[in-house]
Amino acid sequence: PEECRVYEFAEACGKTASEVISVLFGLGMLVTKNDFLKQDELEILGEEFGIEVTVRDALEDVNYVEEYADEDIDETNYVTRPPVVTIMGHVDHGKTSLLDKIRSAKVASGEAGGITQHISAYTVDQNGQKITFVDTPGHAAFSAMRSRGADVTDIIIIVVAADDGVKPQTEEVISHAKASGCPIIVAVNKIDKESANMDMVKAQMAEREMTPVDWGGDVEFIGVSALNGTGIDDLLENILIQSEMLELKADPTAKVKGAVVESLLEKGRGPVATIIVQNGTLKVGDNIVCDTTYGRVKAITNDQGKPVKELGLSETGNVLGLNDVPVSGAVMVAQDSEKEAREIATTRAEHARAKELSKSTKVTLEEMSGLI
Ligand code: GTP
Ligand code: MG
Repeated sequence: PEECRVYEFAEACGKTASEVISVLFGLGMLVTKNDFLKQDELEILGEEFGIEVTVRDALEDVNYVEEYADEDIDETNYVTRPPVVTIMGHVDHGKTSLLDKIRSAKVASGEAGGITQHISAYTVDQNGQKITFVDTPGHAAFSAMRSRGADVTDIIIIVVAADDGVKPQTEEVISHAKASGCPIIVAVNKIDKESANMDMVKAQMAEREMTPVDWGGDVEFIGVSALNGTGIDDLLENILIQSEMLELKADPTAKVKGAVVESLLEKGRGPVATIIVQNGTLKVGDNIVCDTTYGRVKAITNDQGKPVKELGLSETGNVLGLNDVPVSGAVMVAQDSEKEAREIATTRAEHARAKELSKSTKVTLEEMSGLI
């Protein structure tokens, strides 16, 4: 619908652009020949000119490439994949500290190569089983990911500081988590603190229908300390139990699909996207589309900063080679050729730009008279 400009419509039905413009003007709409017409405007014009207007989504092929990727999934190739765990919670309750502590506890110091800076996603090994963690992408990004179908999260950990209890953002997170339908584990952090009060947290959570297992409910509460590492093994074991019940499966041979959890423009390296693989295997040389960006994967570094040739199911790493920085929450899909990837992404990018432009130039008569 929004793909049709005034002059395109005029051409298509053998009218001049000014004829179309004057009809719209008569209806109180002031448009230029480059403006996009909405579905209802198209219908009105159709009636006015006595022609039948059928509205076809010109972006259809471009907009469904993510779904097309799913058609490539073959259940006979299914293998168990590691869980992807998202950590959420109120500001300063220790999400990042907890992630960093888990990582430093679980990645052998030699392997970590002295990495001290925080990264937003990584995979650890707990007794031979992998778990991928993602730092909270922020609520807006989390919702965006869900609405785009880029929701990679299998299990949600809600972090609540034992000395601070349930706060407004905790409540928000609870409703997000419940809406997602993912299993939830509550990590009661900062239990090393003297003012820590596990029972207070449990009571506050129980009031919000998050009743602890030991109180007859179904939510696991694990006391942890991101400061000294208490409870971290317990937390990881619990994640694995939940994960087993979910029976997470994916096809490593399908067309690769994943999600961008973070992205940035790095000096000297260009756009860098942190990606989690959901299906298939991401390889160097793949032609990928991430929303309005595209590129041939030039290099992949894993979560330890080491170059790798591919990323497997639920694995995460940084991908180089995109033409621009994708939005976080974007779905990543591979295409058969660079040409296809480029066409899809540029069509989307042009469309987005044109829409923006049209929004800023389109003025109704009412608005006009307000200006005079
Ligand atoms: P935002 O990302 O800003 O929402 O915060 P966050 O939830 O990631 O919290 P962060 O990890 O930045 O920790 C906030 C503060 O709490 C820091 O000063 C941490 O050192 C402290 N902190 C985190 N975990 C613990 C803990 O287990 N014990 C104690 N004593 N302090 C902690
Ligand atoms: Mg943080």
